[in-house]
Amino acid sequence: MFPSPLTADRRIQVNGPREVLAQRFSEVRAHTLALAAPFSAEDQCIQSMPDTSPMKWHLAHGSWFFEVVVLRAHLPGYQAFDERFFYLFNSYYEALGPRHPRPLRGLLTRPTLAQVHAYRAHVDAAVQNLVAACDDSAWREVMPLLTLGLHHEQQHQELMLTDILHALSCNPLLPAGRPASGSSHRAALRVAPASVPLRWLAGPAGTVLVGHDGDGFAFDNETPRHEVLLAPYRIADRLVNCAEYLQFIEDGGYRRPELWLSDGWAAVQANGWDHPPYWIAPDDDRAPAGHWQVFGLHGVRALDPLAPVSQVSFYEAAAYAEWAQARLPTEFEWEAACAVPGITEMTEQVWQWTRSSYDPYPGFRPFGGAVGEYNGKFMVGQLVLRGGSSATPAGHTRPSYRNFFPPGARWQFSGIRLARDA
Ligand SMILES: [Fe+2]
Repeated sequence: MFPSPLTADRRIQVNGPREVLAQRFSEVRAHTLALAAPFSAEDQCIQSMPDTSPMKWHLAHGSWFFEVVVLRAHLPGYQAFDERFFYLFNSYYEALGPRHPRPLRGLLTRPTLAQVHAYRAHVDAAVQNLVAACDDSAWREVMPLLTLGLHHEQQHQELMLTDILHALSCNPLLPAGRPASGSSHRAALRVAPASVPLRWLAGPAGTVLVGHDGDGFAFDNETPRHEVLLAPYRIADRLVNCAEYLQFIEDGGYRRPELWLSDGWAAVQANGWDHPPYWIAPDDDRAPAGHWQVFGLHGVRALDPLAPVSQVSFYEAAAYAEWAQARLPTEFEWEAACAVPGITEMTEQVWQWTRSSYDPYPGFRPFGGAVGEYNGKFMVGQLVLRGGSSATPAGHTRPSYRNFFPPGARWQFSGIRLARDA
């Protein structure tokens, strides 16, 4: 038996019968496999850049988390599926041992996908045995760990999709990751007007409370709940759409250094950015069409003028805001605005870059034990995104949820909501 990597923490004390959590565990784990199912074994093995991971690695890593955080510490006599996997599938937990270098995850042709599926089944069975058999005292330790593990698994469900989308975007064939569904023809069939007026809503000003509240699950970075002072501001009622972003491009947005932060302009210059990464210019040889198109999980589609712009970096979001004579909201303005009547597209389309650095809240205390590495050690050099995206699992996000990426990241479902001083 190993010591528990997590001491009991009331932030992840989500009470409920064991059967409820057991059922939830089954559903979340099955959903991970369902997301992966349309992709071939070859698709699931590749890694297109150091920031991304192969889908197969994500499938294994979710199991690794349950194995080292829950089973190894709390299931007497637990036999690891393969102890070498502790090394292969540890992500960044220094306290849990050495690990395979992240940029080299795509070299792991072995274990095979079938072996990773067997690993998942082994862990699933052990977790269900633990839930059914542990005594009430152990359950009080196990329940919050399992809960954390499920939220962790859901985070990787989204990363599986963003990472495979990036990998497929690197393929000159621009293959579709998923078969087209009825709703996926929305762009082609849209007959709505190509623009919708943007309305500016007054955000709550003065002293407001932010951070996680209530008895539900929250990550440590959402706490403690605390007061912030907001100057009067207005916030856009919807996201910036592709038609608007195209105007920015056509107005020379990527050629005008006065719109860009210094680091952002350097990124434009160094990388040759001139449009969002998955946009396909009308004269692009990969899929010539005479009009703008966008690559996504359903393959190449006509640019939908009313769809939110996505996969833009913080630098692009900030430059667009400058061009639009606006700014990005702070994370606290964004959170307070969740309660404003008439605000839309907060969680279901794209994560929204904020002008807030990813910092600890006053009085921040990481989860105890090894999972104290979950969030706190990344609180430097990154920007907070709020909301949620079309790739975020249902029920995973909430108003206090803090996503975070470096300012140059442009492979997530990340977009733009504008704000202005009142
Ligand atoms: Fe992870």
